[in-house]
Amino acid sequence: MAPRILRRLFAVAPPGARRRLAGALLDFKSLPARLADPRRRAEPWAFVHNVGDGDFVAVGAQLARHLTDHAGLSPGDRVLDIGCGNGRVAEQLAPLLADGGGSYIGFDLSPAGVRACRRRFAGRPHMAFEHLDVWNGEYNETGKLAETEVVFPAADASVDLAFATSVFTHMRMSGMRRYLAETARVLRPGGRLAFTAFALAPERQASEVFGFQPFDATSMIIDPRSPERAIGHWRPAIEAAVAEAGLALTSSLNGLWAPPSAYDGGQDLFVAVKG
Ligand SMILES: C[S@@+](CC[C@H](N)C(=O)[O-])C[C@H]1O[C@@H](n2cnc3c(N)ncnc32)[C@H](O)[C@@H]1O
Repeated sequence: MAPRILRRLFAVAPPGARRRLAGALLDFKSLPARLADPRRRAEPWAFVHNVGDGDFVAVGAQLARHLTDHAGLSPGDRVLDIGCGNGRVAEQLAPLLADGGGSYIGFDLSPAGVRACRRRFAGRPHMAFEHLDVWNGEYNETGKLAETEVVFPAADASVDLAFATSVFTHMRMSGMRRYLAETARVLRPGGRLAFTAFALAPERQASEVFGFQPFDATSMIIDPRSPERAIGHWRPAIEAAVAEAGLALTSSLNGLWAPPSAYDGGQDLFVAVKG
């Protein structure tokens, strides 16, 4: 539990400052692992672009395992990472895809995140990263491109597996619908999408971890000062948006944020296929 002064700072700081502060705490926690293992010394610093709590390697490995176990990730896949952050999933996928002849494109609105990824994967031609200056109230308040106008950096029908881990949990439904439509455009027939969300239901809208409060017709939020800090979407709205994009949901698993959970991920996991 953070000391009271830190909790107070988190409560009053604007989103960018809050994220940096949280990132600095995460960096402090990661110091022992970095010092003990020379291979970990070049990991991205979270105070530069904080993609969330937890250890860079452990969280990345867990997310990659979820893609394998639940979305059929295989080494020959052409993969699209929507909101790739500082590359914690890319880190896990790079050797697997190199061995199997697969490839990876990641994009994010954070120049620092994309720079860190490009540095880390320099000289590995199967790993590509793109920066898009997309507006997001939590991550990029000065972004020039609306989420509803984003065009993914991938050609039509060129992707076997697209995924968005902990990204739609920061986006309003209008942006999410655009991202689902773009996903349907870039997936080949039979290609899969895995994404995480806080899927709200009457019995699942508050928990010890999150107390969601009403926001708009399709969503709830935890912080009125920064709605994109964490957004939960009502499950029927998620399902309708997936169908509207021309994707068919094949599974969904409840995450740990609101028990009872069906797998070991924090957020709910959805998998869909393009017909
Ligand atoms: C919690 S982090 C997750 C990062 C990464 N997916 C992971 O699991 O490690 C959320 C990420 O989504 C990115 N993001 C938020 N809104 C976005 C948008 N509209 N388009 C692209 N990236 C976005 C943020 O910059 C941040 O890197």
